[in-house]
Amino acid sequence: MKLTDRVFLCGSGAFGLTPMGDCHCYVLDGGEELALIDCGLQTQPQAILDRMTCDGLDVKKLRWVLLTHTHPDHANGCAWLKENYSVQIAASQLEAEALEHGLLETLHIDPVPHGYEQYANIPRVRADRILCDGDRIKVGDLEITALLTPGHTAGSVSYLVDTSAGRQLFSGDEVFYRGFVSVLTPPLSSYEQYPSGLSRLAGQHIDGLFPAHLMWTLQNGQSHIDKAISAFERDQRPMLKPFS
Ligand SMILES: [Fe+2]
Repeated sequence: MKLTDRVFLCGSGAFGLTPMGDCHCYVLDGGEELALIDCGLQTQPQAILDRMTCDGLDVKKLRWVLLTHTHPDHANGCAWLKENYSVQIAASQLEAEALEHGLLETLHIDPVPHGYEQYANIPRVRADRILCDGDRIKVGDLEITALLTPGHTAGSVSYLVDTSAGRQLFSGDEVFYRGFVSVLTPPLSSYEQYPSGLSRLAGQHIDGLFPAHLMWTLQNGQSHIDKAISAFERDQRPMLKPFS
């Protein structure tokens, strides 16, 4: 589904594009190269690639999976994509460790509590590029900036890109339409880090806000982010995302 000149939505269980459980998976079209932001719950995310083909995108141009964080609905497809396509995986140091060594192991959660089994089964794979705050990733003629935004997870990354349609932010599960946030039971999330993570998104003049769940918007994205920032500044708990 084409959203702007350079942004496509090619995975989403909630919107019925791909199997239930997939987060919103966006494709950035850099012309000669493509980047997929998160890659869904399926360990073989062929359905996302099929959606790309339907949208006129050449899957052979897929060069990057830009991971926002290592939760199964975002990261289960990483290993298969790396094994079967010329794809490099980019993630923050903390999320890369979780992807390679296991999320629960990285967070020192042992034994596996009831309900956490999904976090134990993310296919393991090594990231190709470790992202620091402010790093730039070239995808064809686009330049994407990685912003470290801890909160939903300690290693969450948001991705910023300027296109002719405006300034676009892919916020993963860090901040959503209407200023919702997603706080999970510690240590999966870091409530203490949320204000500093969101502050990285302050004053960015975001037009398009493309979170990994719920609604997205093509304009005034900054206003939704500012709602969450403002709630933390007032020492109030922002609205929580109603489902995963
Ligand atoms: Fe998540």
